[in-house]
Amino acid sequence: MKTSEQRIQIALQKSGRLTDHSLDLLAKCGLKFTKSKDQLFCFGENMPIDLLLVRDDDIPALVGDDVCDLGIAGLNVIEEKRLDRHGNDASAQFDQVFALDFGHCRLAIAAPEDAPYDGPMSLQGARIATSYPATLNKFLTQHEVDASVVIFSGAIEIMPRLGKADFICDLVSTGSTLAANQLREVQTVLESEAVIIQTRAPLPVEKQDWINRLLQRLDGVLQVRESKYVMLHAPRSALEQIVALLPGSESPTVVPLEGAGDKVAVHAVCREYVFWETLENLKSAGASSLLVLPLEKMMV
Ligand code: PRP
Ligand code: ZN
Repeated sequence: MKTSEQRIQIALQKSGRLTDHSLDLLAKCGLKFTKSKDQLFCFGENMPIDLLLVRDDDIPALVGDDVCDLGIAGLNVIEEKRLDRHGNDASAQFDQVFALDFGHCRLAIAAPEDAPYDGPMSLQGARIATSYPATLNKFLTQHEVDASVVIFSGAIEIMPRLGKADFICDLVSTGSTLAANQLREVQTVLESEAVIIQTRAPLPVEKQDWINRLLQRLDGVLQVRESKYVMLHAPRSALEQIVALLPGSESPTVVPLEGAGDKVAVHAVCREYVFWETLENLKSAGASSLLVLPLEKMMV
């Protein structure tokens, strides 16, 4: 077996909304890498993992054709290529491992600001410009709408102004592209976020072991993202109420405080976001000396 076949190849978007987050996530899993001169290849220094930086649209095929073992891309791209390659209900040549909770956006239909829209039937007979024809066609079929899909790759948002389309179907994140083109979002077609996919090709045991380790670390990184370590002081009498207020925590540690009478210290991992309101409620319930600390790693 060639050395390159023993190393895990992960395809990532080379420049775009997912790039920095993807690299950051892998770095948080402990991967250290050196970038090649052309910035398109990263060699993993401390794990047998290399990164290939490519166009996001190419990621599903690279993983599906077993050129790369894993890929991180938007569900929008994954879903479009899956439908395009295999038709509506055929299985894809890769497994979607899990969603990564970043790169949230949606594939949506947008109309000129003054055009009326009352649900999918308003699309009947219309021309819709998109670079996601397969996903759009699936949506239209599901809603029994007969519309003409104008395939276009490039600045889709200018098509209505050029008189080439009545609607567009494109990715919306902040909505600023639509606003700048006097378009309004009228219909969500697909909710998207970054996901990690794995080839279906059987892999050597050692390689799969490394992939499993990486996936477990990724899961750990995702788990701690919203989690915080909360420390506070509380009168023993208020303990029950205070513990109930800690968001997403299981059996906190309770330690008596030296020379503080009835007071105890409570330490807890909160698995949900700790809002300022939570702290205010804890304080009203009798808690004091509240500390919220970030968590870096977690393995359960
Ligand atoms: C999408 C889409 C819009 C823009 C919308 O393109 O085509 O141009 O993002 O984002 P906004 O709502 O924040 O303004 P993207 O940058 O993902 O490029 P790509 O589709 O070519 O990969
Ligand atoms: Zn793209």
